[in-house]
Amino acid sequence: MIKESVLDKLINSKTEYISGEKISRQLNVSRTAVCKAIKALRQQGYNIESSTKKGYRFLDSPDILSEYEIRRYLNSDIIGKKIVVHESIDSTNRAAKELAEQGAPEGTVIIANEQTSGKGRFSRSFFSPPDKGIWMTVILRPLVEPSKATIFTVIAALAVNNAVQKLYGSRLQIKWTNDLLFNYKKVSGILTEMNIEAETNTVQYVVIGIGINVSTKKEDFPKELKDNATSLLQATKKAQKRAKLAATILNELEALYKDSFYLKNKSLLLALYRNDLCMLGKEVRLIQGNSQSIVTAVDIDKNGALIVRKGDKSIATVNSGEVSLKLEEDA
Ligand code: BTN
Repeated sequence: MIKESVLDKLINSKTEYISGEKISRQLNVSRTAVCKAIKALRQQGYNIESSTKKGYRFLDSPDILSEYEIRRYLNSDIIGKKIVVHESIDSTNRAAKELAEQGAPEGTVIIANEQTSGKGRFSRSFFSPPDKGIWMTVILRPLVEPSKATIFTVIAALAVNNAVQKLYGSRLQIKWTNDLLFNYKKVSGILTEMNIEAETNTVQYVVIGIGINVSTKKEDFPKELKDNATSLLQATKKAQKRAKLAATILNELEALYKDSFYLKNKSLLLALYRNDLCMLGKEVRLIQGNSQSIVTAVDIDKNGALIVRKGDKSIATVNSGEVSLKLEEDA
């Protein structure tokens, strides 16, 4: 596409001006085609300065989730090899499962500017408004037994947190197993789903769905979320482009996944995850089906399951699929 080639030239010139004539010569297209491309880029929100004498100069890109913008920051081999972008979709996890069934390769990423039916755990809905967040799902095809699948939520949470640390300079708190919080308010949720072949008890594919409130303002959240949710912008007062954050997460995820790093270094990763947990030693409300109880979160075990102390002092291990937790702070 001429538009993207022109953009490449502008971005590669960094802070220098580049003349329309030079771009047209280098790309072997007409001056009119270059002008048209610049106009289209500006319409997309690219800030391009022009000077009659010196030519064009790239100033800034818009906060859009285009494949081009994501690839600018991506340096992975597997994750993001294929990127499918939707302006609006019901749920990227639903779309990912459909693509995985059709044979989409490992590392395929589905990302949307908006989800109209975003899903959380226990079939809850997940607020995913346009322009304000990252709603994306990664398809993996790991050779592991289904019982080992908790590790995918662990590496996804660490990937998000490592990326947030890189771009915003601070870490989020992890609320076991799949929420990332800032000051006990939810910034991000992760929903890992998998397909198992019953005959062989092997994982066919895993989809890791990551939702992040990036620039949502307090007034944007629906009433029921206002007090318990926040965004990276609200929390840190720093603005980052969503494409850069999405790519940084994918780079981090690749580092934790590639060459079975997550299997070879499981205890290290669980220790890092444990460090980010905000609930150890605290009272949490354990919600299992219709029953609720107050327990103390003691530790996580070698598989990432939560160890809790019940009211009668007995110790129990709970698995992510079974329970919902509410920190007593936000109960
Ligand atoms: C939770 O909070 O329980 C998990 C939320 C997971 C949300 C993400 S957004 C991208 C992907 N698509 C979905 O429908 N859900 C996940």
